[in-house]
Amino acid sequence: MKKTLITRFFHIRMLSGSCCRYKKVQPSVKSKNVSSHDWLTRQLSDPFVEMAKKYNYRCRSAFKLIEIDDKFKILLPGNVVIDCGAAPGSWTQVAVKRVNANLSDKNGSQGTVIAIDKQLIYPIEGASIFENMDFTEQTSQEKLVNFLGSNRADAVLSDMAPSATGIRDLDRENIIKLCYSALKFAVIVSKKGASVLVKLWQGQEMLDLQRDMSRFYDNVKIVKPNSSRSDSIEMFMLGRGFKGLR
Ligand SMILES: C[S@@+](CC[C@H](N)C(=O)[O-])C[C@H]1O[C@@H](n2cnc3c(N)ncnc32)[C@H](O)[C@@H]1O
Repeated sequence: MKKTLITRFFHIRMLSGSCCRYKKVQPSVKSKNVSSHDWLTRQLSDPFVEMAKKYNYRCRSAFKLIEIDDKFKILLPGNVVIDCGAAPGSWTQVAVKRVNANLSDKNGSQGTVIAIDKQLIYPIEGASIFENMDFTEQTSQEKLVNFLGSNRADAVLSDMAPSATGIRDLDRENIIKLCYSALKFAVIVSKKGASVLVKLWQGQEMLDLQRDMSRFYDNVKIVKPNSSRSDSIEMFMLGRGFKGLR
């Protein structure tokens, strides 16, 4: 997909009066309970669900990474990228295209994309998949480091999200642990100048993470893409310009 498509799409959304609210489409079939009816209504009204189908992305999350990368250019041809919490695989699909891991540009330099998740990930051409693996376990990270060999990462991405317990504070604590796990790993495997992008939920902990990330990255930003639902507390923290380890 051309980068301009999403820009044009947002332009249309802006012109139509709201950047974060979509036209409500009610399901034609009645669902059994209120929450599944609401979910169905939301899915049917969500233009990113439609776009994901149109461009063959495995889920609408693809557009979050597309938006962030369009703005901050963290995925370049030839780059080495590690995608943590990659299932079902839409970020990996985006990363593969942008770093040219599948050599879709025969004359461009070939990048590497490594995808890891606790769950199964169906194959994605150009990506190396580590499925059914808990990223936070030392043995999993050792496998990734071995696979990298002498290569260093240009970007470590984490869209990892814990299974929700329904207890807000506990859920936030769990996602922050995942962020720190990705950050620590990024610091070990990244080359100087690299980026790290992690998903987290709004809360006080964001400031601690921002402070800690700033120790290792020149520029740290909190980002909320348009494609991230406005009623969702998810945010992304992007660190750019890895300072390197002494
Ligand atoms: C929101 S989904 C990721 C969507 C993905 N970025 C995409 O675009 O297709 C979050 C994923 O994080 C994974 N996850 C959560 N904790 C994990 C862990 N400790 N290790 C590996 N994956 C984890 C979940 O299994 C889930 O697939």
